[in-house]
Amino acid sequence: MQEAQPATEYNLDTVQIEERAMTVIESALAADVGHEIGSRLQQLLVEFTDLSLQAKQVHWHVTGPTFESIHLQMDRLVADARIWADTVAERAVTLGSTVDGNAATVAAGSKLQPMTLGYLPSSAAVGEITRRVRQVAVEVRTEVQALGDLDPVTQDLVIGIAEALDKHLWMLQAQLS
Ligand SMILES: [Fe+2]
Repeated sequence: MQEAQPATEYNLDTVQIEERAMTVIESALAADVGHEIGSRLQQLLVEFTDLSLQAKQVHWHVTGPTFESIHLQMDRLVADARIWADTVAERAVTLGSTVDGNAATVAAGSKLQPMTLGYLPSSAAVGEITRRVRQVAVEVRTEVQALGDLDPVTQDLVIGIAEALDKHLWMLQAQLS
């Protein structure tokens, strides 16, 4: 009977380093332009990720007669923000950059004020998340302008996100009157 052969031993640290060193993504853009776009998209990745987490915080803690509609609305915002995060991250990698979606990086880099803890009566909940959505919408519009000089394809992608943010902003504010 043949003796079982030991499994091939890998040094995972070495494998990771070798693979990283070999990977170069060249897009149709000049590398320096791609990297500048990548750093701009990294900040949006941080903001969208934080927004998705904060909308979940509201989803869990909203109270009052309109609980259910806000509870469900927050999950739609969470889903969209997660898609936006994925979209900008994949665009950055497409253009030759890497991104950092680690929780520690999001916590350190987000410009959003952390969500108030504890139960949130519906009007406070909507007011809190509206302020953050507006802040992100303004930041995204600033990026739309900046990207116009760098890459119209990325700009178009971010314009789509700006439109979706505007719609969330409308749907939130319509509940405040
Ligand atoms: Fe839930």
